[in-house]
Amino acid sequence: MIYLEAIITLSAIGVGLTILLLIANKLFGNYGTCKVKVNDREPFEVEGGGKLLDALYDQKIFIPSACGGQGSCGFCKTCVIKGGGPLLPTEEPYLTEEEQKNGTRLACQVKIRNDIEIQVKAEYLNVKQFKATVGPCKMMTTDIREIHLKLTGGETIDFRPGQYVQVLVPNKKETVFRAYSIASVPSTKDEVELLVRLIPNGLGSTYLHSVKEGDEVTFTGPYGDFVLDESADSELVCVGGGVGMAPMRSLLRHVAATNPQKPCWLFFGARTTDQLLYEADFKAMAEKLPNIKICYALSEPEKCPDWKGATGFIHESVARELAENASANRQAFLCGPPKMLEAARKTLQQKGFKNENIFADEF
Ligand SMILES: Cc1cc2nc3c(=O)[nH]c(=O)nc-3n(C[C@H](O)[C@H](O)[C@H](O)COP(=O)(O)OP(=O)(O)OC[C@H]3O[C@@H](n4cnc5c(N)ncnc54)[C@H](O)[C@@H]3O)c2cc1C
Ligand code: FES
Repeated sequence: MIYLEAIITLSAIGVGLTILLLIANKLFGNYGTCKVKVNDREPFEVEGGGKLLDALYDQKIFIPSACGGQGSCGFCKTCVIKGGGPLLPTEEPYLTEEEQKNGTRLACQVKIRNDIEIQVKAEYLNVKQFKATVGPCKMMTTDIREIHLKLTGGETIDFRPGQYVQVLVPNKKETVFRAYSIASVPSTKDEVELLVRLIPNGLGSTYLHSVKEGDEVTFTGPYGDFVLDESADSELVCVGGGVGMAPMRSLLRHVAATNPQKPCWLFFGARTTDQLLYEADFKAMAEKLPNIKICYALSEPEKCPDWKGATGFIHESVARELAENASANRQAFLCGPPKMLEAARKTLQQKGFKNENIFADEF
């Protein structure tokens, strides 16, 4: 009996607290209509209380948000000139001291509670949303799928090799985006090709592994800061593994088509032969274009007795094959798992690469 009374009392307190919270949220969470001013554009109005990132999205301002607004990628940095409220602990790890001082914030963490004025990079104002139809798809390894997305409505996309798009993942609760590098070449403007690794229970990758030819997919883009030095005498060194192949495939195919004299290296690391991607394609490219050199290396060659190529970690191949200080005029593009990139970066630095010429996309 005493237990029953205690349970009833506790339940009543719980219900009471919930009602109080709801009332407080109604009273204090009602921010009315707020104005959002972006760069020198006319301000737009939104109902207060929502995230800045979502308000921008509704206005078709597509800033990068690779983690889909979870506050875990730091891609949605935006300069808040006024009205952003105090910096949140969730933002601090992603912002340098300098950025914190100059008002940089994570747009997915800033709630609009009053009029707000922000500055976004001019290039983001050119990012568009596209609808596409899924074209042919094929499994390249047990967990990596090549997917072609053909733009609908006669749309075309302009991008630089090395850039990425953000795919809208259907989700009932919220707007979710995930970033995927473009593997196709910029001269193909009416479709993008992606390489997607399936992450067990991953929202975005499961979605992109389940779409079928003819399905409609929405994405925004292009995004990404890497600018390829197009001059014929500067060397391009690509190092990566897994789905890190996607942007490297775009870069090298673009160079082969537009600037075949440019010296290039592709270093691709995998554990075993079943994880190698496009080896035959790149071998054929290197045979035709002697300026393009390739090196595929296995870190577990004992499992592949027929393997005749390089062995060991891929940064060891870079150390072996790449000339020291050959030219000051060279760029490196690294893409793959964080540990692989860390080791590759160190090797490249030892080879005389300047930090500002090493670009890395970790995933
Ligand atoms: C600029 C950029 C470009 C990218 N390009 C590509 C690309 O070309 N191809 C591609 O496949 N991916 C790419 N990614 C990664 C991609 O954006 C997603 O993060 C990835 O597909 C996982 O998303 P998800 O929704 O499937 O998993 P989520 O739902 O985000 O995660 C589900 C669970 O898996 C864990 N998890 C997330 N990622 C990984 C991982 N890599 N390994 C192990 N566990 C993980 C999470 O911690 C979580 O517990 C890129 C990322 C960035 C930032
Ligand atoms: S931190 Fe990833 S979208 Fe804001």
